Amino acid sequence: MWPNTVLNEYYTLEQESAIASLGLSFNGSNVLDLGCGTGRFSRRFASEGADVIGLDFSEKALDIAKSLSSDGNPHYIRESIFKLDWPARFDLIFATATLAIACRNEHELKDILTRVGKALKTDGVLLVIEPLHRGLLSRVLDMNLKDFLRCLSETGLVSVNVKPLAFWPIRIVLAYIPLPRFLTAAIYRLGTLLMRLPPFTGLGDYWAVEAKIAPGGPLDFHAFTEEETPNSPNAEPDIPLHDIGTGNWNA
Ligand SMILES: C[S@@+](CC[C@H](N)C(=O)[O-])C[C@H]1O[C@@H](n2cnc3c(N)ncnc32)[C@H](O)[C@@H]1O
Repeated sequence: MWPNTVLNEYYTLEQESAIASLGLSFNGSNVLDLGCGTGRFSRRFASEGADVIGLDFSEKALDIAKSLSSDGNPHYIRESIFKLDWPARFDLIFATATLAIACRNEHELKDILTRVGKALKTDGVLLVIEPLHRGLLSRVLDMNLKDFLRCLSETGLVSVNVKPLAFWPIRIVLAYIPLPRFLTAAIYRLGTLLMRLPPFTGLGDYWAVEAKIAPGGPLDFHAFTEEETPNSPNAEPDIPLHDIGTGNWNA
C-alpha cells in the first residue's frame, strides 16, 4: 500500500475496470486467484457467486485472508503456484502482482503459464494484471510486455486484450505524498488520459492481459521436477510481509 491511500483506491478502480471488461458472469463459475495475498480479489469474485480458490504460499497473508471470510468460499490453499496441477478446472484464472514477483526468469514464467493453460477449461480466460518492465521498474521478473506475450504464445495461450494501467510517471509524484483527494484524483485522471495517447501508451506501470487457450494449446513446456520447483511452499517468500496489511496491496 502506498502512503497516499487515495492512490491505492484509484489503482483498485483500474483493476476493477479490467475485470469488468472481461464481460464475464461469475455466478457459478470456478475462479482461481493465483498469489491471492490477503484475498481482496478472491472475496470480490466470491461475492458475485463464483467458487473461488485462493492460492498463495504466505501463511501470514492467508491467515489474514481467512479471517476476512467465514463461509469456506473463497477456499484458501497454502501452496506454491509452481505446484499448480488441476486439469481443465477453471473458468477464470486471475493473477495480479504475482507472476512478476514469483517468476525470476522466462523459464519460470513459461512453467507457470503452461500449468495455467492446463488448469483452464477449454473456453476459460486468464487475466493477469502485472508490472511488466525491463530494468529499473521491473520487480523480480525483468521482462517487457512484448516478451510476456511471446511467452504466452510459446505455451499455447493467446492474448485477446491488452491494456496499460497505472501511468507510472504520475505514481512517482503521487505515491509518497498524501495529497488531498481532489488533487490526487485530478493528477491521476490526467495520467490515465495521457496513457490513451500513442506516445504515452507504453508508460503504464501495469499491463492487464486477457488470454485464452490458443487452437492446439496448451503446449507442453518442460515443467520443473519436484527438486527444481522454485519458491516451494516451505520457503519463506522473499518479499516484505510487513507490507501485507488487510486491503489493497500494490507491488
Ligand atoms: C504483491 S502480492 C499480491 C497479492 C494479491 N494478488 C493482491 O493484489 O492483493 C504477491 C503475492 O504473491 C504471493 N507469491 C509470490 N510467489 C509465490 C509463489 N511461488 N507461490 C504462491 N504465492 C506466491 C505472495 O505471497 C504474495 O501474497
